[in-house]
Amino acid sequence: MTIIAIDGPAAAGKGTLARRLAAALGFDYLDTGLIYRAVGMGLARAGQDPADPALAEAAARALTPEALGAGDLRGDDAAQAASKVAAIPGVRAALLDFQRRFAAHPPGGRGAVLDGRDIGTVVCPAAEVKMFVDASVEKRAERRLKELQAAGRGGIYADVLADMKERDDRDRNRSVAPLKPAEGALLLDTSDLDADQAFAAALSHLREKGIA
Ligand code: DC
Repeated sequence: MTIIAIDGPAAAGKGTLARRLAAALGFDYLDTGLIYRAVGMGLARAGQDPADPALAEAAARALTPEALGAGDLRGDDAAQAASKVAAIPGVRAALLDFQRRFAAHPPGGRGAVLDGRDIGTVVCPAAEVKMFVDASVEKRAERRLKELQAAGRGGIYADVLADMKERDDRDRNRSVAPLKPAEGALLLDTSDLDADQAFAAALSHLREKGIA
């Protein structure tokens, strides 16, 4: 099975890139952030603390694929709750199988694109292609603010930037599976690239590897 692992911080453009690559190659796509969001929001909705290790691990073990379809997983509350449960080792261990099964047996049977924070380093270290998509935190906060405004939710740049820095810090400095480029990953800095340019750069890397 051909596996493409795409990692990077929030709002660097990895989701858009992963979705476009999957469509171009006829591969299946898994947004692994959504899994952590579903666990975190499940707890928050029930009035429980996403940072509680025992509760969070139990929620991760009980996660069903249907939970990934909940309506409120894209917002910033879900992002913060996700980042908290994601720092708990028992949660990450519980979610590992789900992700590896998808990578080994994607529904369409041709290949899989997974995006997240630790796909190339931990979930699929033997992936044929690894990419690390990054951008300056200021550019990422600007993008996030534009998305919020487009969704009619508004927001203040300073708040979005502070939120982004807090989440970056937690994701990069946790003890298990911290966010960092995998060995051999293509580093793609999208600070000055639009979505089309990032896609073109990724596709040319895949061609060099004989995959596209
Ligand atoms: O990609 P995202 O913004 O939807 O991810 C939400 C949070 O989930 C992120 O801040 C950290 C965590 N996460 C993770 O730890 N490992 C992954 N593979 C994906 C997400």
